[in-house]
Amino acid sequence: MENIKPVTPVNDRLIQAAQTVMNNAYAPYSQFQVGAALLSKRGNIFTGCNVENVSYGLSICAERNAIASAVATEGSTLEIVAIAVTNNRQISCSPCGACRQVIQEFGKNASITFQDDSGWQTTSIDKLLPEGFSF
Ligand code: THU
Repeated sequence: MENIKPVTPVNDRLIQAAQTVMNNAYAPYSQFQVGAALLSKRGNIFTGCNVENVSYGLSICAERNAIASAVATEGSTLEIVAIAVTNNRQISCSPCGACRQVIQEFGKNASITFQDDSGWQTTSIDKLLPEGFSF
């Protein structure tokens, strides 16, 4: 992936927070536990894990749960500076398309840290979601 940057102390802290909340994931159907942690412009860290449902399509991703938690505390002025995503299989897992759109809503310049085949990678939302929807 282009523009790979080293893991910074901030991203390292987000990774740790994401790994901790990942243990709370409710993933009995996929067994794929995901954790996400974001840093807001105000300096707060918010976390979320995936919550699945027997009606599979109702499952919610870790990233969107972290963002919902952040909005519940900071309100509509939330600005995402950085977000990190972890999973229990330590495999390549960047945010899904739906999560990319929601990250972009609150973080036009957000950095995103996730695992890929060669380790931790940090990139930007505009690289992951060029031409995202807006009107
Ligand atoms: N999942 C996330 O939490 N975030 C993503 O970006 C990709 C997928 C979850 C949804 C589901 O509970 C499980 O991973 C398997 O798809």
